Amino acid sequence: MESMKLADRFDPDANAVLFAGDCLDLLRSVPDGLVKLVVTSPPYNLGKSYENRLDIGEYLSLQRSVIEECVRVTSKNGSICWQVGNFVDNGEIVPLDLKLYPIFESLGLRLRNRVVWHFGHGLHASRRFSGRYEVILWFTRTNDYTFNLDAVRVPPKYPNKKHFKGPKAGQLSCNPLGKNPTDVWDIPNVKANHVEKTEHPCQFPVELVERLVLSLTNEEDWVLDPFMGVGSAQIAALIHGRRTIGADIEPRYVRIAESRIRAAEAGTLRIRPMERTVYDPSSPKESVPPKYVSLHNREDQMKLLERKTIFPSVSRGE
Ligand SMILES: C[S@@+](CC[C@H](N)C(=O)[O-])C[C@H]1O[C@@H](n2cnc3c(N)ncnc32)[C@H](O)[C@@H]1O
Repeated sequence: MESMKLADRFDPDANAVLFAGDCLDLLRSVPDGLVKLVVTSPPYNLGKSYENRLDIGEYLSLQRSVIEECVRVTSKNGSICWQVGNFVDNGEIVPLDLKLYPIFESLGLRLRNRVVWHFGHGLHASRRFSGRYEVILWFTRTNDYTFNLDAVRVPPKYPNKKHFKGPKAGQLSCNPLGKNPTDVWDIPNVKANHVEKTEHPCQFPVELVERLVLSLTNEEDWVLDPFMGVGSAQIAALIHGRRTIGADIEPRYVRIAESRIRAAEAGTLRIRPMERTVYDPSSPKESVPPKYVSLHNREDQMKLLERKTIFPSVSRGE
């Protein structure tokens, strides 16, 4: 069985490029228009262990250099998803998406959604309301862009709802393939008891990136994360048969990314499945357990993850 080809610098034949260093150095080696999806969570300038806190102007100017390169490498029908929260300055919050939007706008990108990612865990504030969401700015380069909505539909809330008048009266009114997941996503963030937790302080949940990979790319497309941390975007891309490029300035995170990919190949990496609902103590349901990823059994994996589920209408004896 052939193993995934991993490369430590840009290589058009690799399944995954994992670069240990400044993302700008990697980006300069990536050809124009190669990438279908850039998805990233850049440093927030909060003074976390992996970042030096900068003046906001300096931070934005560094972000602009990376964004410019990301635009250059994105294909005309591709997307850029920039996931950010707040920069906190002396107790005052600065929503980074508001600060970053003008950069994307000035580069001619078109905003398709400002997705609100809501999660349940975080710091408890005492002088303001505790923050429980961040955002994903989804931009496209042009009006002709890949968007596979059917691949990411979710179960309808009322599967039995029917048209009550007109020519379709009595027929089910919802799409049997499920509903649009909307622009508010309830996905648990990766905290201590999350099955995907590594030593990284702010990982992407793999399922968050899976939704973007499935909807905004096709098989064999390239997915890039210039600030890849421990490679969560890489895992999401490889699970679904895409190729991937990532950089991180901390070599130890790159080593963890590589070992997660190798574990996924060996079938020993566990992730939280996309189909698992968020735990609700007031209406506990049967929980979908964490799932083992296996990059070599992609046929089975694809059947499991990408089958077009028909959500049955449940008879209430009406
Ligand atoms: C918010 S974290 C991203 C975590 C990632 N989404 C994951 O799932 O692990 C930002 C990452 O950017 C990295 N970083 C900071 N400056 C960088 C640079 N100039 N080039 C590449 N990586 C950088 C940090 O080391 C950190 O791991």
